[in-house]
Amino acid sequence: MAFKTLTKAVVVAGLALSATAAIAADAPKVMTGASASMLANTCAGCHGTDGASQGPASPTIAGLSKDYFIETMQGFASGEIPSTIMGRIAKGYTEEEFALMADFYRTKPFTKAKQDFDKKLAKKGAKLHDKYCEKCHAEGGQSAEDDAGVLAGQWTPYVNWQLANFKAGDREAPKKMKKQMRKLLEKKGSEGVKALLNYYASQQ
Ligand code: HEC
Ligand code: HEC
Repeated sequence: MAFKTLTKAVVVAGLALSATAAIAADAPKVMTGASASMLANTCAGCHGTDGASQGPASPTIAGLSKDYFIETMQGFASGEIPSTIMGRIAKGYTEEEFALMADFYRTKPFTKAKQDFDKKLAKKGAKLHDKYCEKCHAEGGQSAEDDAGVLAGQWTPYVNWQLANFKAGDREAPKKMKKQMRKLLEKKGSEGVKALLNYYASQQ
């Protein structure tokens, strides 16, 4: 069906993600009263120093807005946002610690991933983004101010996987985003999603 290409990529992404699961078991326990940088140390193994992830298995978490960061951690902890690893990790922290970590990462630069992309598809994707996504994911998906995450330069397997979660209803998208996604899929199918992913990957 329309999502065949996407599903295939998701399987690949899933494998890459689960490969890091073993590391989670060894993550040190956090003490009460830990400073923000002490907390962030336990994330660096997967998310890179200061949240700039060096590989496709984990998303970059630097530069995210405070609200988005906290809501995402809460979503992982409650299970509302599907995860391979973060559900378990997020449950180990308090709301206060979420806020401390959010403040820490918010001030770090979002470093765009160096990854392959198809130029033609990226061009198509830029137009689709403007039409369907730019309203909430401003500046071509680069802005964090909109509290909607950062799409531009994020590792493709992660963006791809979250889009599949939204599509399947495993992660609840905002109502208007749902509508735009539905329109995009009706008009452009999985090729449209592929084009968007290439556009976000092309921003380096
Ligand atoms: C073992 C590797 C690992 C560790 C350690 C880890 N993460 Fe993650 N993180 C992931 C993966 C993989 C994802 C994608 C969701 C999933 O599958 O769990 C993710 C997703 C996230 C996201 C969502 C990013 C977005 O754009 O929506 C945030 C925020 C996050 N992690 C924060 C943290 C924080 C804070 C810590 C430390 C307390 C941490 N992570 C520790 C692997 C890890
Ligand atoms: C009406 C506003 C709106 C529109 C339109 C919209 N989004 Fe979103 N999007 C959001 C918000 C807000 C979030 C943060 C998660 C949440 O609130 O559930 C989000 C989250 C996401 C995420 C997850 C980011 C992460 O780091 O986990 C992806 C991927 C995404 N959107 C892609 C898209 C794409 C692609 C389009 C266009 C087809 C789009 N969105 C259109 C508001 C929107």
